[in-house]
Amino acid sequence: MTTGPQLPQGYVLHAFDRVESTNDEARRLAEQGAAAGAVVVAGEQLKGRGRHGRAWASPPGNLYASLLLRPEGTLAEAAQLSLVASLALAEALIALAPPAADVRVKWPNDVLVRGAKVAGLLLESAAGADERVAWLIIGSGVNIASAPAGTPYPATALRYEGFPPMTPLDLLGRYLGVLDDRLARWRSRGFAAVRPAWLALGSGIGDRVRLRLGREEVAGRFLDVTDQGALLVAQDDDRRRQITAGELLFVDR
Ligand code: BTN
Repeated sequence: MTTGPQLPQGYVLHAFDRVESTNDEARRLAEQGAAAGAVVVAGEQLKGRGRHGRAWASPPGNLYASLLLRPEGTLAEAAQLSLVASLALAEALIALAPPAADVRVKWPNDVLVRGAKVAGLLLESAAGADERVAWLIIGSGVNIASAPAGTPYPATALRYEGFPPMTPLDLLGRYLGVLDDRLARWRSRGFAAVRPAWLALGSGIGDRVRLRLGREEVAGRFLDVTDQGALLVAQDDDRRRQITAGELLFVDR
């Protein structure tokens, strides 16, 4: 890849033409003791990973990037970062979007354009014996030039939706600029500081949802996202239940 974009202070770019997975490279850096702010970006991935054990199609032209963080706190708190990062990505896209794009965040980790998935995040982390986070990687895949066919959900790419042409590195610089600001708010005041912005872009609030939590399936109405980043559901048996991002296997509407 050519040399990089303007990144916020303290971020260090590690750019590759091709890797198996940028999350794997970021993990290597984490285990070697790299500081928070290391960012791995690649022109393509040979073994890109999505959530739920799915592959993430990773041809040239799209963004594949992984940011290393070392947040203080527990893994449960760090799970909120999938909401913080998907919000930041959505906000970076809104700044570029044509009027009808309807950019939204889907709990906990997707960005949608006109109802179709344009980006997904994969968070991976390790904790010490005290359950506090040792490192956390936010892997982000954004369909800029192309979207895969045959996905179990509608998928799209920025190019199909009338966004201006952009390189993956251009978009990475914009995304990290917004994310850095959102992370600062989250560090000082928790998810509650980010929640109003998340809710303003949240997709499906008030809709019926089905969630798979391990072997259990929960069906009900998506009521809200709490100050802790949990999804609040009114179950069909009228009980209310909070689901954290860490518990979720699958959400469908
Ligand atoms: C999802 O299933 O929605 C998450 C997709 C995450 C893909 C990104 S691309 C950069 C990073 N490296 C990977 O192997 N996966 C993530």
